Amino acid sequence: MKFFIDTANLKEIQEAHELGILDGVTTNPSLMAKEGIKGKANIIAHYKAICDIVKHGDVSAEVISTDFASIVKEGEELAKIAPNIVVKVPMIKDGVKAIKYFADHKIPTNCTLVFSAGQAILAAKAGAKYVSPFIGRLDDVSTNGLSLIEDIVNIYEVHGFQTEVLAASIRHPMHIIECAKIGADVVTCPLTPILQLLKHPLTDVGLSKFLEDAKKME
Ligand code: G3P
Repeated sequence: MKFFIDTANLKEIQEAHELGILDGVTTNPSLMAKEGIKGKANIIAHYKAICDIVKHGDVSAEVISTDFASIVKEGEELAKIAPNIVVKVPMIKDGVKAIKYFADHKIPTNCTLVFSAGQAILAAKAGAKYVSPFIGRLDDVSTNGLSLIEDIVNIYEVHGFQTEVLAASIRHPMHIIECAKIGADVVTCPLTPILQLLKHPLTDVGLSKFLEDAKKME
């Protein structure tokens, strides 16, 4: 299972990259705005900076257009920033058309804002490289987000779809562990749940005892 970080914060991306477990980055307009990035030139420069840190992993850059012609224009511009840019396209009618266009032109896409198995089937049929079902936001409305991941993984396996299931909107370490059990291809999450995976009180207790006993050998 690949680990992507879901942030546009360069320090967090660098920290996850230095941990040695980072396979890619996902961003969205909310995450970019949170970093205070304004204007087309700064947006492009920021994506370039992310791609410079994560040179060998996919970096999702989201379009903000909603009609076919504008999505295509914007996506083609984003794809020129770096070879590892993946154009993130919302699950809307013109988005599906654009995903098909990008697939035909060898531009990889990540279909975002997916909340049902039906939407995931359309994304795969159109040729998306990744499909992004949002687990946490489904949980927020009392719907089991992990069940959706399970359904999509099963459907893609039965039909041999090549689209990778990228579990998004991850809120805590159990989401990551359950995604691994279900067989999600990728998880994308903020730095905190990744670092929380490291923690176990018995590790801390065990380490301090080992270090204490090691002093007896000095
Ligand atoms: O990038 C999409 C997704 O991961 C957003 O997560 O926490 O805003 O629901 P969240």
